[in-house]
Order: sequence, then structure tokens, then C-alpha cells
Amino acid sequence: MNILLVGSGGREHALCWKLAQSPQVESIFAAPGNPGIAEHASCVSLDVTDHAAVAAFCAEQAIGLVVIGPEAPLVDGLADSLRAADVPVFGPSARAAQLEGSKGFTKALCDRAGIPTARYVRASHAAEARAALADFDLPVVIKADGLAAGKGVIIAETADEAEDAIGHMFAGAFGEAGAEVVIEEFMTGEEASFFAITDGSAIVAFGSAQDHKRVGEGDIGPNTGGMGAYSPAPVLTAELEAQVMERIIAPTVATLATEGMPYSGVLFAGLMLTGEGPKLIEYNCRFGDPECQVLMTRLQSDLAELLLATAKGELASCPPPRLSDDYALTVVMAAKGYPGTPEKGGAIALGDTGGAKVFHAGTALKDGALVAHGGRVLNVTATGSSVTEAQSAAYSAVDGITFPTGFCRRDIGWREVARERGEA
Ligand code: AMP
Ligand code: GLY
Repeated sequence: MNILLVGSGGREHALCWKLAQSPQVESIFAAPGNPGIAEHASCVSLDVTDHAAVAAFCAEQAIGLVVIGPEAPLVDGLADSLRAADVPVFGPSARAAQLEGSKGFTKALCDRAGIPTARYVRASHAAEARAALADFDLPVVIKADGLAAGKGVIIAETADEAEDAIGHMFAGAFGEAGAEVVIEEFMTGEEASFFAITDGSAIVAFGSAQDHKRVGEGDIGPNTGGMGAYSPAPVLTAELEAQVMERIIAPTVATLATEGMPYSGVLFAGLMLTGEGPKLIEYNCRFGDPECQVLMTRLQSDLAELLLATAKGELASCPPPRLSDDYALTVVMAAKGYPGTPEKGGAIALGDTGGAKVFHAGTALKDGALVAHGGRVLNVTATGSSVTEAQSAAYSAVDGITFPTGFCRRDIGWREVARERGEA
């Protein structure tokens, strides 16, 4: 089988590395890919917003499966266009991808399906949003409805901050994404992520992870796409996972199917583990980045077989994903300046990274040499029989990499390492 993989980050490098291990896979094309992906795939420049061009490419190259990594082409309906051209595709339709593309859509679905989540109000103009604030205690959470690259969520500690956030959003700070806002009750607890794949009827668990969203050690400073992650997340015990499947994932899949927008692909649930049980913070309609890197590192099954079975609606007859009992931990090496404007072009020498796997997130080749070409640049990923061991293996590999214009957090996995030491 020939595969087309859409995307260019560390998530797609991890997917490509795993797909390339499948005996069913003959060749992989990546659009646009990156130098790490190029070790396993032919990188092609295709305009993925031109759906007809992507479908034509699939016909020319006899593509048997398209795997869409990021959310934007899903929300944009690329999966629909490919399905209409009879190309099997891993990823939800535009309607189902509203789970990530519209926070208001997801909150309303939670109401209809009885899914536990924070109490909320949707507002489509500033006066309505300001009036709604009276019903919430502080801190209060203000969210732009649409895709905002992880930046559209503001946790307002004071009434003034809440007013300002509403003002900014309706003034266009997040463009169209802020044309509607969701105001939410602030939930307390520990956050964890849970992944499941579904073809719209069968659902199988794909493991758990925790990431570190803030740029600074100790989880402080601005939000990023994620500075590191580990899997599994022991806080999400088997009992809690069963609750998440039963109370959150299954009703989501069932409701979307009943309403004529069946979900096919991976569901990535961001959860708050509250005193009242797990509650949904948000859904993403794709694998997490860098959570995917740790999931793929633990995956022992044939990824191509799983993704193809999902795409074809045959998940029920496919063996479920088997994940190693080991922990995997990934450290993001970013370019200085990230999450603001990152320094581009910094030289990178990977050296000997031992047993660790280095996924490329934002790299390029310049005159044959590897250089930084993005905010998040490398994902240094290692395994161990505890988070502590995986962490230490990942940082030894980080220390073998020369990347003077890069930086990383030195405390990825700190919560779990403290628990393993008996300190928490
Ligand atoms: P989201 O993009 O919806 O995942 O939100 C980004 C981050 O904001 C989450 O990972 C949480 O840390 C925080 N957050 C979002 N909604 C809430 C909420 N209702 N209560 C507490 N924290 C939240
Ligand atoms: N690491 C969080 C995300 O992929 O949304």
C-alpha cells in the first residue's frame, strides 16, 4: 500500500516512522514532510488546501490511505473531498472535526449527550459575554470559539481581566476564531490526555499522556504547543480510563453518529481530573503533538493496519492497539524566542543520541546541514521502566545534541518523577 501523510511536524515524523515499519506499506509520500520524515518518505510539495490537486495526486500515485496529521486540513474538509474521490482517509469529516474547530459546538454536544464538562455560556457579541460574567466566580475561563493555535484560552483572575479578554476577542485578536466566545467555569484538578480511535461505531483506547504546555520550568510562562510529554499518565488509572470511555468518549461517538456526522479518526480528549471525576476540557480531532511521539514510541501494533481499518470502517475486526508497558518521555528542543518569534537557521548536530529517538519537528537542510526551521525543532524521545528512567535517558540524549540557538525545559515529567520518589 502507498500512503500519503499530510503534515510536517514531530507528530508526523513519529507517525511516518511507525507507518514505515508496517510490512503492508510499500511507499510513503509526505506533504510537505521535513528532513526527519524524508528518511522514510518522499517529501512532495502539494497545496493541501487544493483538494482536487490532492485527490489527483492520490490517483496518480495509487494512494491506498491518506493520513492527515494536523487539525486545519480536517476542519477545512480535506477528508470529505478525499472520501468523495473514494480515497480511504484517516481523519474526521469537517462536520465531525467541529469537535476541535468550534468549542461552542463541543459544549452543546456535551449538553445533548450528558457528558461531564465545565458549566458554560456561549456569546456572539461583547455585551452578551459581559452580561454572562455575572453568573461565574473568579477565576473564569474565556475561550475564542474557533481554531487559535492553542492561544485562544484566557484564564481571567479578575473581573477586569475577563472584560479585557472579551474586548480583545470581539475586537478580532484571534480573527474569525473570536467571532463567538465561550465563557466557562474554572475547573480544578490535574490535567491528562486520553486518546481513542473510532470508525464511527467501534471505539478502541489508544492510551494516555500528560504534556507540559507552558514554556518555563515549573509550568510557568506563556502557553506553547507543548514542551514535552510522557505516556502513559499513571494518574489516569484503569478505573478512570473506563469512566472516560463510558461517560465521555462513547456518548460523543454515539451522538455524532446518530446526528448524521459519524466521527472517524482519533479523538484526543483533554481532561480535568476533578473531585467529581474526569471532565472534558476540550477535544482535538487529531493526535497530540508531542503526545503522538510518546504514543508511537510505545505502540507495538501495525499502525498502518489500524489506521486503514479505521478509514474503512473495519475497526471492529482489527486487533486493538498494543502499547508497551514501558514509559516513553519526549523533551521538546525549541528555538530561542519560542513561543514568540523563534530564531531560524541555527545549526544542529545530533551526535550520538544512544537509544533515544529524535523526531524532527521544525528542521530544514541548508547546504546539506541540519538547521532549525520553526519554533519547536526536535523531540528527543526515550523509554524506561519508570518516568524517572525515561526522563533520564531523554536528557542524556538531549545533552549529546549540539544546538546553540535552542533551549528545552529540564523538568519534563516532574509531577510523575516526584510521585515515583514518594514526594507527592
Ligand atoms: P484548551 O485549549 O481548551 O485545552 O485550553 C487550554 C488550557 O486552558 C487547558 O489545557 C487548561 O489548562 C486550561 N483550561 C481550559 N478550560 C479550562 C477550565 N474550564 N478550567 C480550568 N482550566 C481550563
Ligand atoms: N500538545 C497539545 C496538542 O497537541 O494540542
